[in-house]
Amino acid sequence: MTNIKRFITAMTAIGILTSASLSSAASDGLEINHLGVNNTLVRVTGGDQYLMLPVQENIDDARINVLVDGKIAETIYVRLAKSKTDYLVPFDLSPYKGKKVTLDVVTPQGRSSVREAKEDACWKGLTLTDTLDIQDNEQQYRPAFHHAPLYGWMNDPNGMFYKDGVWHLYYQYNPYGSKWQNMTWAHSTTKDLINWNHEPIAIRPDGLGSIFSGSSVIDHEGTAGFGKDAVIALFTSAGTSQMQSLAHSSDNGMTFTKYDGNPILTLESEARDPNMFWNPETKEWNLVLAHALDHEMLFFTSPDLKTWTLQSGFGKGLGCQDGVWECPDLFQLPVEGTNEKKWVLICNINPGGPFGGSAIQYFTGDWDGKTFKADTDAQGNVPTKWLDFGKDNYALVSWSDAPDGRRTAIGWMSNWQYAADVPTKQFRSANTLPREIGLFKGPDGQIYASSAPSPELSALRGKLTLSKGSVKAGKNPVSFALPAANNGICEILLDIDVTGKDVVTLTLSNKVGNKVDMVYDSEKHTLSFDRRESGIVDFSENFPAVTVSPTFETNGRISLRIFVDKSSIEVFGNDGQFVMTNLVFPVEPYSSFSVSSTGGKSKISNLKVYSLKTK
Ligand code: FRU
Repeated sequence: MTNIKRFITAMTAIGILTSASLSSAASDGLEINHLGVNNTLVRVTGGDQYLMLPVQENIDDARINVLVDGKIAETIYVRLAKSKTDYLVPFDLSPYKGKKVTLDVVTPQGRSSVREAKEDACWKGLTLTDTLDIQDNEQQYRPAFHHAPLYGWMNDPNGMFYKDGVWHLYYQYNPYGSKWQNMTWAHSTTKDLINWNHEPIAIRPDGLGSIFSGSSVIDHEGTAGFGKDAVIALFTSAGTSQMQSLAHSSDNGMTFTKYDGNPILTLESEARDPNMFWNPETKEWNLVLAHALDHEMLFFTSPDLKTWTLQSGFGKGLGCQDGVWECPDLFQLPVEGTNEKKWVLICNINPGGPFGGSAIQYFTGDWDGKTFKADTDAQGNVPTKWLDFGKDNYALVSWSDAPDGRRTAIGWMSNWQYAADVPTKQFRSANTLPREIGLFKGPDGQIYASSAPSPELSALRGKLTLSKGSVKAGKNPVSFALPAANNGICEILLDIDVTGKDVVTLTLSNKVGNKVDMVYDSEKHTLSFDRRESGIVDFSENFPAVTVSPTFETNGRISLRIFVDKSSIEVFGNDGQFVMTNLVFPVEPYSSFSVSSTGGKSKISNLKVYSLKTK
């Protein structure tokens, strides 16, 4: 069996084992020795591949030192079940095959005696297993056409590069639970930006700390000394302090070796999420690093990706200063309809987003290889610009070496305000649809970034279930059925035409009263998205919200492309000139789409609904 198959088999086992294992005693092949109120040794004597760890989400982490032949091989943090098991996560024993493995478990305080500690649900639920043959871990809100981990927690996309027809995506990952912890770079690949393969974990925590966000490049000339075309990853080692480290791969990013000179870059204050690229003009490597608590980005240059020289900083006192600055990206793009080129500096921030929590801020401007100079508005101020006017697109960064000069990017489709509380279980978080970043001139003369769905996504289209050349948006809503197949996942396309002033409402709804209203106001030039009654919204006070986007249009006409997955809606307006990405958790899929307007003077044209294909 391939690693991937084993991995999937193990994952899919989780659903079954959750209930089956609750009442069983610790399985054969495990010796459990309670040493004290908070300390237990679990010796693995069986030869199976996976040790299933029972997790209870609402308690603190236990610290587990994994002893291999008596030495600490790794330390992991797991919310080992105390009173109930929410789900199981596998600990893969295969790297230690043939060796003596013992888990030295320190559970959090809260037990008064060893006798009480012995009653913790986890001890009965620990199971060894090898042949996990199972069905899919399909869940109500598991996305049908977005990238998501099979199980466990995901946040930022990391280290993306394109090579030999394959898009590589790494991501912040906790393999041992569906909340943030044990940060690791997990890895997925795709050839079509739709169907994702889950690859073995790429970079694991080490003595310097866990593996925070970063970037990868293909070192075409072998400047770092690891060979031509080696894949070089830079990431933040997050131990007691944050420092930057390097890992290299000579098998196209499938496995990485950490550089023995790590860390390669240290500062006296918190800095993270290195993002690097080759600058063909200056013939050296450029690096942007988030000086998180100082609300600025730092720029470095290097001949070899290992030694970095600080050149300048950008951002102090500019843009939104309400949160930490994280996950930068810097690239140049042509401005549509002009001969001009501009640089885009992405500065993700958390909190401080326009609708609360995390969001993607960016600046346009000029970059000379050492300093970034931001564009200013007519008053000479540096305007704050947002890439997405929904609540659920964060840590967006782009692929390096994307084909045909494309600037393809992807974001984490959640918000730090409630990412750990959303009503999914064995996995938390998906990524946004991949997007093509572009630049255009807005009606105010400023340059803005657009993000349109990647062209590959058109291949998702299945049956055309609705096609109307023209529909009058009257005062009474006109409704259309949405496809029932595949949990209602669909793509809706339409143009709205308003003559004069009008307010047009588009509504997605289902039979149990969940609804999302999208309202276009031609006078205010805005599109809003109201998810306050969209389904399950009460898991966080920050979830029910109305988000509002400028529409950048002047003629009362907008074109929308709306992608509806099981727990997200992405609205792309005018080829991505305005975008809203929002999570929704409808109790059942939305089954109806209606249009109306307050003035009754508007028209919807080219209305099309496609049911989307799933794997
Ligand atoms: C952004 C972030 C990064 C950090 C990572 C840790 O969401 O806070 O700055 O590297 O998450 O998981």
